[in-house]
Amino acid sequence: MKAPKRRLQHVLEAQQFGNDPELLGEVFKLAQFFQKGGESDCMRGRILASLFYEPSTRTRLSFESAALRLGGGVIGTESAEQFSSVVKGESLPDTIRIISAYADVIALRHKDNNAAEDAARVATVPIINAGSGAHQHPTQALLDLYTIEQECGTFEGLTVAFVGDLKHGRTVRSLAYLLGKFPQRKIVFSSPVDLRIGKDIKDYLDERGVQYVETDILGTEVLQADVVYMTRMQTERHASTHNRDYSQFHLTGRVARSVRGAILHPLPRNSELDPVIDTRPNAAYFRQARNGLYVRMALLHILFA
Ligand code: NCD
Repeated sequence: MKAPKRRLQHVLEAQQFGNDPELLGEVFKLAQFFQKGGESDCMRGRILASLFYEPSTRTRLSFESAALRLGGGVIGTESAEQFSSVVKGESLPDTIRIISAYADVIALRHKDNNAAEDAARVATVPIINAGSGAHQHPTQALLDLYTIEQECGTFEGLTVAFVGDLKHGRTVRSLAYLLGKFPQRKIVFSSPVDLRIGKDIKDYLDERGVQYVETDILGTEVLQADVVYMTRMQTERHASTHNRDYSQFHLTGRVARSVRGAILHPLPRNSELDPVIDTRPNAAYFRQARNGLYVRMALLHILFA
Protein backbone atom coordinates (compact mmCIF):
# COMPACT_ATOMS: atom_id res chain seq x y z
CA MET A 1 0.00 0.00 0.00
CA LYS A 2 1.30 3.46 -0.87
CA ALA A 3 1.95 5.69 2.14
CA PRO A 4 -0.15 8.90 2.18
CA LYS A 5 1.79 12.01 1.06
CA ARG A 6 3.05 13.89 4.09
CA ARG A 7 2.72 17.67 4.48
CA LEU A 8 6.47 17.83 4.95
CA GLN A 9 8.38 15.23 2.96
CA HIS A 10 11.97 16.29 3.59
CA VAL A 11 13.76 19.37 4.94
CA LEU A 12 16.28 20.12 2.20
CA GLU A 13 16.56 23.87 1.75
CA ALA A 14 15.43 27.02 3.54
CA GLN A 15 13.33 28.31 0.63
CA GLN A 16 10.74 25.58 1.06
CA PHE A 17 9.50 27.27 4.24
CA GLY A 18 9.36 30.67 2.59
CA ASN A 19 7.23 29.11 -0.15
CA ASP A 20 4.78 27.85 2.44
CA PRO A 21 4.15 30.59 5.05
CA GLU A 22 1.48 28.43 6.65
CA LEU A 23 4.03 25.70 7.32
CA LEU A 24 6.50 28.27 8.65
CA GLY A 25 3.80 29.63 10.97
CA GLU A 26 3.14 26.12 12.21
CA VAL A 27 6.85 25.54 12.93
CA PHE A 28 7.03 28.77 14.94
CA LYS A 29 3.79 28.10 16.83
CA LEU A 30 5.00 24.65 17.82
CA ALA A 31 8.48 25.95 18.71
CA GLN A 32 6.83 28.43 21.03
CA PHE A 33 4.73 25.65 22.54
CA PHE A 34 7.86 23.61 23.31
CA GLN A 35 9.74 26.69 24.51
CA LYS A 36 6.99 27.26 27.08
CA GLY A 37 7.41 23.68 28.36
CA GLY A 38 4.76 22.01 26.19
CA GLU A 39 5.14 18.24 25.80
CA SER A 40 4.46 15.64 23.13
CA ASP A 41 5.32 11.97 22.71
CA CYS A 42 4.85 11.98 18.94
CA MET A 43 8.10 10.07 18.44
CA ARG A 44 7.28 7.20 20.77
CA GLY A 45 8.38 4.00 19.04
CA ARG A 46 10.23 6.00 16.41
CA ILE A 47 13.93 6.49 15.81
CA LEU A 48 16.01 9.42 14.64
CA ALA A 49 19.29 8.54 12.91
CA SER A 50 21.86 11.31 13.14
CA LEU A 51 24.37 10.82 10.39
CA PHE A 52 27.09 13.45 10.65
CA TYR A 53 30.03 13.43 8.23
CA GLU A 54 31.22 16.81 9.53
CA PRO A 55 31.82 18.02 13.09
CA SER A 56 28.86 19.35 15.05
CA THR A 57 27.90 20.16 18.61
CA ARG A 58 24.68 22.17 18.60
CA THR A 59 22.96 20.73 15.56
CA ARG A 60 23.54 17.06 16.32
CA LEU A 61 22.91 17.22 20.04
CA SER A 62 19.83 19.42 19.71
CA PHE A 63 18.36 17.03 17.12
CA GLU A 64 19.06 14.07 19.40
CA SER A 65 17.73 15.90 22.44
CA ALA A 66 14.61 16.87 20.46
CA ALA A 67 13.93 13.24 19.46
CA LEU A 68 14.45 12.00 23.02
CA ARG A 69 12.24 14.74 24.49
CA LEU A 70 9.49 13.70 22.06
CA GLY A 71 9.66 10.13 23.35
CA GLY A 72 11.73 8.75 20.49
CA GLY A 73 15.02 6.88 20.27
CA VAL A 74 18.28 7.88 18.63
CA ILE A 75 20.93 6.01 16.66
CA GLY A 76 23.82 7.58 14.86
CA THR A 77 27.41 8.19 14.12
CA GLU A 78 29.07 11.50 14.80
CA SER A 79 32.15 11.13 12.61
CA ALA A 80 30.67 9.15 9.77
CA GLU A 81 33.64 9.97 7.57
CA GLN A 82 35.80 7.99 9.99
CA PHE A 83 33.51 5.51 11.70
CA SER A 84 30.93 4.41 9.14
CA SER A 85 31.25 2.07 6.14
CA VAL A 86 32.37 5.08 4.10
CA VAL A 87 35.84 3.97 5.18
CA LYS A 88 35.14 0.74 3.27
CA GLY A 89 34.07 2.66 0.21
CA GLU A 90 30.30 2.72 0.69
CA SER A 91 28.49 5.47 -1.22
CA LEU A 92 26.13 7.94 0.47
CA PRO A 93 23.06 6.60 -1.40
CA ASP A 94 23.81 3.05 -0.23
CA THR A 95 24.26 4.20 3.37
CA ILE A 96 20.97 6.11 3.18
CA ARG A 97 19.12 3.08 1.75
CA ILE A 98 20.34 0.99 4.67
CA ILE A 99 19.60 3.54 7.39
CA SER A 100 16.12 4.08 5.92
CA ALA A 101 15.36 0.55 7.13
CA TYR A 102 16.65 1.20 10.66
CA ALA A 103 15.28 4.66 11.41
CA ASP A 104 12.16 6.77 10.79
CA VAL A 105 13.97 10.01 10.00
CA ILE A 106 17.58 10.87 9.12
CA ALA A 107 19.36 14.11 10.07
CA LEU A 108 22.28 14.35 7.66
CA ARG A 109 25.33 16.61 7.69
CA HIS A 110 27.73 16.19 4.80
CA LYS A 111 30.53 18.10 3.07
CA ASP A 112 28.91 17.89 -0.39
CA ASN A 113 26.65 20.75 -1.43
CA ASN A 114 24.00 18.43 -2.89
CA ALA A 115 24.21 15.63 -0.30
CA ALA A 116 20.71 16.19 1.11
CA GLU A 117 19.05 16.11 -2.32
CA ASP A 118 21.04 12.99 -3.26
CA ALA A 119 19.98 11.32 -0.02
CA ALA A 120 16.32 12.28 -0.45
CA ARG A 121 16.28 10.68 -3.89
CA VAL A 122 16.89 7.20 -2.44
CA ALA A 123 15.57 7.51 1.14
CA THR A 124 12.28 5.95 2.13
CA VAL A 125 12.11 8.09 5.30
CA PRO A 126 12.35 11.89 5.67
CA ILE A 127 15.80 13.45 5.25
CA ILE A 128 16.56 16.55 7.27
CA ASN A 129 19.48 18.56 5.92
CA ALA A 130 21.62 19.36 8.95
CA GLY A 131 24.22 21.20 6.85
CA SER A 132 25.30 20.48 3.27
CA GLY A 133 28.81 21.69 2.43
CA ALA A 134 29.01 25.43 1.85
CA HIS A 135 25.48 25.38 0.49
CA GLN A 136 22.60 25.20 2.97
CA HIS A 137 21.66 24.71 6.59
CA PRO A 138 17.87 25.07 6.56
CA THR A 139 17.09 24.16 10.18
CA GLN A 140 19.63 26.79 11.27
CA ALA A 141 17.82 29.33 9.06
CA LEU A 142 14.54 28.44 10.74
CA LEU A 143 15.94 28.87 14.22
CA ASP A 144 17.65 32.09 13.14
CA LEU A 145 14.39 33.50 11.79
CA TYR A 146 12.55 32.37 14.92
CA THR A 147 15.18 34.13 17.04
CA ILE A 148 14.91 37.30 14.95
CA GLU A 149 11.16 37.32 15.49
CA GLN A 150 11.63 36.88 19.22
CA GLU A 151 14.31 39.54 19.52
CA CYS A 152 12.84 42.12 17.11
CA GLY A 153 9.11 41.30 17.35
CA THR A 154 8.99 40.57 13.59
CA PHE A 155 11.12 39.16 10.78
CA GLU A 156 9.79 41.54 8.15
CA GLY A 157 10.79 45.08 7.20
CA LEU A 158 14.19 44.82 8.89
CA THR A 159 17.75 45.72 8.05
CA VAL A 160 19.80 42.57 8.55
CA ALA A 161 23.61 42.69 8.33
CA PHE A 162 25.73 39.59 7.73
CA VAL A 163 29.42 39.77 8.61
CA GLY A 164 32.31 37.37 7.91
CA ASP A 165 33.00 34.61 5.41
CA LEU A 166 29.86 34.96 3.33
CA LYS A 167 31.23 32.87 0.47
CA HIS A 168 31.47 29.62 2.43
CA GLY A 169 29.04 30.20 5.29
CA ARG A 170 26.00 28.01 4.66
CA THR A 171 23.99 29.53 7.52
CA VAL A 172 24.12 32.98 5.90
CA ARG A 173 23.09 31.56 2.54
CA SER A 174 20.10 29.70 4.00
CA LEU A 175 18.95 32.64 6.09
CA ALA A 176 19.33 35.05 3.15
CA TYR A 177 17.14 32.75 1.07
CA LEU A 178 14.51 32.65 3.78
CA LEU A 179 14.59 36.38 4.60
CA GLY A 180 14.31 37.14 0.88
CA LYS A 181 10.87 35.51 0.84
CA PHE A 182 9.54 38.33 3.01
CA PRO A 183 9.64 42.12 2.56
CA GLN A 184 12.80 43.57 4.11
CA ARG A 185 14.20 47.08 4.33
CA LYS A 186 17.72 46.05 3.42
CA ILE A 187 20.30 43.29 3.67
CA VAL A 188 23.92 44.33 4.28
CA PHE A 189 26.67 41.85 3.32
CA SER A 190 29.94 42.78 5.02
CA SER A 191 32.94 40.59 4.10
CA PRO A 192 36.47 40.62 2.69
CA VAL A 193 36.28 41.19 -1.07
CA ASP A 194 37.30 37.60 -1.87
CA LEU A 195 34.74 36.12 0.52
CA ARG A 196 31.61 37.84 -0.77
CA ILE A 197 28.19 36.21 -0.84
CA GLY A 198 27.53 34.02 -3.90
CA LYS A 199 26.03 35.38 -7.11
CA ASP A 200 23.12 32.94 -6.84
CA ILE A 201 21.96 34.67 -3.64
CA LYS A 202 22.32 38.14 -5.19
CA ASP A 203 20.40 37.04 -8.30
CA TYR A 204 17.68 35.62 -6.09
CA LEU A 205 17.41 38.85 -4.06
CA ASP A 206 17.37 40.89 -7.30
CA GLU A 207 14.56 38.74 -8.68
CA ARG A 208 12.56 39.29 -5.53
CA GLY A 209 13.26 43.03 -5.41
CA VAL A 210 15.02 42.83 -2.02
CA GLN A 211 17.45 45.70 -1.56
CA TYR A 212 20.98 44.75 -0.53
CA VAL A 213 24.43 46.31 -0.33
CA GLU A 214 27.89 44.78 -0.21
CA THR A 215 30.65 46.36 1.82
CA ASP A 216 34.18 45.38 2.76
CA ILE A 217 34.14 47.14 6.11
CA LEU A 218 32.31 46.56 9.37
CA GLY A 219 30.99 50.13 9.40
CA THR A 220 27.91 52.21 10.20
CA GLU A 221 25.62 50.24 7.88
CA VAL A 222 26.32 47.13 9.93
CA LEU A 223 26.27 48.80 13.32
CA GLN A 224 22.89 50.44 12.70
CA ALA A 225 21.15 47.28 11.47
CA ASP A 226 18.25 45.67 13.37
CA VAL A 227 20.14 42.37 13.30
CA VAL A 228 23.93 41.92 13.17
CA TYR A 229 24.61 38.31 12.18
CA MET A 230 28.28 37.49 12.84
CA THR A 231 30.02 34.43 11.36
CA ARG A 232 33.43 32.85 11.59
CA MET A 233 35.90 32.32 8.77
CA GLN A 234 35.21 28.83 7.38
CA THR A 235 38.89 27.89 7.38
CA GLU A 236 38.15 24.20 6.82
CA ARG A 237 36.51 25.04 3.48
CA HIS A 238 39.07 27.40 2.07
CA ALA A 239 42.84 27.30 2.30
CA SER A 240 43.15 31.04 1.57
CA THR A 241 41.44 31.93 4.87
CA HIS A 242 44.29 30.42 6.90
CA ASN A 243 46.70 32.73 8.68
CA ARG A 244 45.14 35.91 7.38
CA ASP A 245 44.24 38.85 9.50
CA TYR A 246 40.48 39.36 9.49
CA SER A 247 40.41 41.53 12.58
CA GLN A 248 38.57 44.31 10.73
CA PHE A 249 35.54 41.96 10.68
CA HIS A 250 35.69 41.30 14.41
CA LEU A 251 33.01 42.66 16.70
CA THR A 252 34.97 43.88 19.67
CA GLY A 253 33.46 44.89 22.99
CA ARG A 254 34.09 48.57 22.17
CA VAL A 255 32.45 48.42 18.72
CA ALA A 256 29.52 46.34 20.03
CA ARG A 257 28.56 49.22 22.33
CA SER A 258 27.20 51.08 19.34
CA VAL A 259 25.08 48.14 18.12
CA ARG A 260 21.41 48.65 19.03
CA GLY A 261 20.06 45.63 17.15
CA ALA A 262 20.17 41.96 18.09
CA ILE A 263 23.58 40.30 17.78
CA LEU A 264 23.32 36.76 16.38
CA HIS A 265 25.94 34.12 15.63
CA PRO A 266 25.30 30.48 14.61
CA LEU A 267 28.33 29.43 16.71
CA PRO A 268 30.96 28.11 17.10
CA ARG A 269 32.72 31.45 17.40
CA ASN A 270 36.38 32.25 17.00
CA SER A 271 37.83 35.69 17.56
CA GLU A 272 35.18 37.53 15.50
CA LEU A 273 32.88 37.85 18.53
CA ASP A 274 34.45 39.06 21.75
CA PRO A 275 33.14 37.18 24.84
CA VAL A 276 32.89 40.50 26.73
CA ILE A 277 29.78 41.10 24.59
CA ASP A 278 28.04 38.04 26.08
CA THR A 279 26.50 39.95 28.98
CA ARG A 280 24.97 42.68 26.82
CA PRO A 281 21.16 42.39 26.65
CA ASN A 282 21.22 42.34 22.83
CA ALA A 283 23.71 39.43 22.67
CA ALA A 284 21.17 36.89 21.45
CA TYR A 285 23.40 34.01 20.33
CA PHE A 286 22.97 31.72 23.32
CA ARG A 287 19.19 32.21 23.18
CA GLN A 288 19.50 31.50 19.45
CA ALA A 289 21.30 28.19 20.14
CA ARG A 290 18.63 27.22 22.68
CA ASN A 291 15.90 27.98 20.14
CA GLY A 292 17.48 25.31 17.95
CA LEU A 293 16.07 22.66 20.25
CA TYR A 294 12.52 24.03 20.10
CA VAL A 295 12.55 24.52 16.34
CA ARG A 296 13.87 20.98 15.77
CA MET A 297 11.24 19.57 18.14
CA ALA A 298 8.64 21.48 16.09
CA LEU A 299 9.92 19.99 12.81
CA LEU A 300 9.91 16.44 14.18
CA HIS A 301 6.42 17.05 15.56
CA ILE A 302 5.17 18.09 12.14
CA LEU A 303 6.74 14.97 10.62
CA PHE A 304 5.34 12.53 13.18
CA ALA A 305 2.32 13.86 15.06
C1 NCD B 1 27.33 26.36 11.62
C2 NCD B 1 27.53 25.32 10.52
O1 NCD B 1 27.78 24.15 10.81
O2 NCD B 1 27.39 25.71 9.38
N1 NCD B 1 27.25 25.79 12.89
C3 NCD B 1 26.01 25.41 13.35
O3 NCD B 1 25.42 24.48 12.85
N2 NCD B 1 25.47 26.13 14.32
C4 NCD B 1 28.25 27.51 11.55
C5 NCD B 1 29.71 27.26 11.42
O4 NCD B 1 30.19 26.13 11.48
O5 NCD B 1 30.42 28.26 11.28
